[in-house]
Amino acid sequence: MRILVTGGTGFIGSHTVVELQQAGYNVVIADNLINSNIEVLDGIENITGVRPAFEKVDLTDITATKEIFKKHKDITAIIHFAALKAVGESVGKPLEYYGNNINSIINMLTCMREFDVRNFVFSSSCTVYGQADVLPVTEQTPKKKAESPYGNTKAICEDIMNDFAFAENQFKMIALRYFNPIGAHPSSQIGELPNGTPNNLIPYITQTVAGIRKELSVFGNDYNTPDGTPIRDYIDIVDLAKAHVTAIQRLIDNKNKSNIEYFNIGTGTGVSVLELIETFEKATGRKVPYKITARRAGDIEKIWADTTFANRELGWKAEVPLSESLLNAWKWQEKLGSLKL
Ligand code: UFG
Repeated sequence: MRILVTGGTGFIGSHTVVELQQAGYNVVIADNLINSNIEVLDGIENITGVRPAFEKVDLTDITATKEIFKKHKDITAIIHFAALKAVGESVGKPLEYYGNNINSIINMLTCMREFDVRNFVFSSSCTVYGQADVLPVTEQTPKKKAESPYGNTKAICEDIMNDFAFAENQFKMIALRYFNPIGAHPSSQIGELPNGTPNNLIPYITQTVAGIRKELSVFGNDYNTPDGTPIRDYIDIVDLAKAHVTAIQRLIDNKNKSNIEYFNIGTGTGVSVLELIETFEKATGRKVPYKITARRAGDIEKIWADTTFANRELGWKAEVPLSESLLNAWKWQEKLGSLKL
């Protein structure tokens, strides 16, 4: 039994490969390395003692994608992470985002059908809820129009999965809707490797504290929240990775209640930007230089997850405290040093 992990050298993918291997699964990674590094395989091997099989493939190329399945005949499940994911960049490059993210999922599902692989887990996002009217969001919270082409690709991919699952009910699928993944493996062997200037809050903080960036811009303190800064649900990367193992196990054991299911993967707790900075400072003993600036276009005010369904059905729960995730993110940054990637 082998799990195909697309995008397996990326941030979430690499941590998931570690958890899969530690749970006893064989893995093959497919990645085109456009936004990740082959050395990630060393980190995975250092933690687990096993070097996963690796195929450098562009998943929008159907011929090359089929070759993976011809070569690895024991693939029984797919976790599909591979995607372009920069919200801001997607606004300027919609065709690249739609072309890559939509074609690659269609190719994965096409291969599932051709090679009779029955189990599929998709990397979705809480972005599908937009600014929800009622918080916390449950899986039944109505989806809203996406704020960016990137967000729209996640909504469209869910629709494609849904229609495919309806048409071909022998295939079983789970979409995991992540909230904000943060942290790094506690071993500091793998972590987040943002390309250029980070868009996301935590790598921006760690790079600022490491002296690579001058100061953090806190995008707006005039939101309708207790301290005026936006609220998110920050989920530890190892907890998030473990959710994939439970999702795969659920499908393989036929414990799914329908052939397409959606789960919120978060902690259930909302944290503001200023609270996060304060927790980081307490956990690491380092000061975060920051200034308040204007709001960032497209940011929502607040969102956090109702995780009742995931906790009950997957038997999974976020466990790592925020302070520990932030300390791991900092330890990883210290290992990278002042390297500008
Ligand atoms: N923030 C700052 N300064 C920064 C970066 C971020 O103040 O330099 C703030 C943002 O305004 C936001 C919070 O930190 O309030 C978190 O921002 P991130 O960019 O880290 O994360 P987002 O919530 O904007 O985006 C994340 C994922 C997306 C996903 C989205 C769904 O990165 O992939 O959640 O809501 F689509």
